[in-house]
Amino acid sequence: MRTPVIILNFKAYRESFGERGLALAKICEEVAKETGASIVIAPQQIDLSLMVKEVDIPVLAQHVDPIGEGSFTGHISPSAVKEIGAIGTLLNHSERRLPPEMIKSTVEKCRDVGLETVVCANDIEMGRVAASFGPDYVAVEPPELIGGDISVTSANPEVVSGTVEKVKEVNPNVIVLCGAGVKNGEDVRKAIELGTEGVLLASGVVKATDPRSALLDLAGGL
Ligand code: G3P
Repeated sequence: MRTPVIILNFKAYRESFGERGLALAKICEEVAKETGASIVIAPQQIDLSLMVKEVDIPVLAQHVDPIGEGSFTGHISPSAVKEIGAIGTLLNHSERRLPPEMIKSTVEKCRDVGLETVVCANDIEMGRVAASFGPDYVAVEPPELIGGDISVTSANPEVVSGTVEKVKEVNPNVIVLCGAGVKNGEDVRKAIELGTEGVLLASGVVKATDPRSALLDLAGGL
């Protein structure tokens, strides 16, 4: 992914799957082309292949499992996600938590097939542990701020700067992002001032009455 970056997590909102999700993805593509901003989307798994085909911006899965190919009913294989054209995946999001050993093995499987990994961390210590597994990105997101109206960059800037510090101590190659409550360009600017290379967000755009305006404002902060 080109940084600084805005990753829009579609989650499982009604507004962000199927035809409505595709319309949202096309807005993201338009804003990316209009502004030159690096905008990446993480649609629901059911729409991954559709989004890769229909829009010309990078697409992430929201989760994959540490499996190869074969008899793994109900799992999501990294090799299949790679083959359909996604560039990577979120892992260990607060809403899809994994045990540390599973994060480690999934990062390894993703590396083997060439998928970028954005490992989510709820606090500084988890960010440090996540960095030790060698992902491409660590995204710190305090769960209590997710979906709220106050950005982590205002409510708890120390968790952002502290995660940057600890992650870089463990592995200087890991890029730090932050998320939770990010809503506007000022929040993005603060995230970058705090040492991150971008943001992960959802409701500020997916639930916005005017997603295009919201995304244009956010892109202005990069
Ligand atoms: O993955 C990003 C997400 O957890 C943040 O949610 O709604 O606070 O932007 P939101």
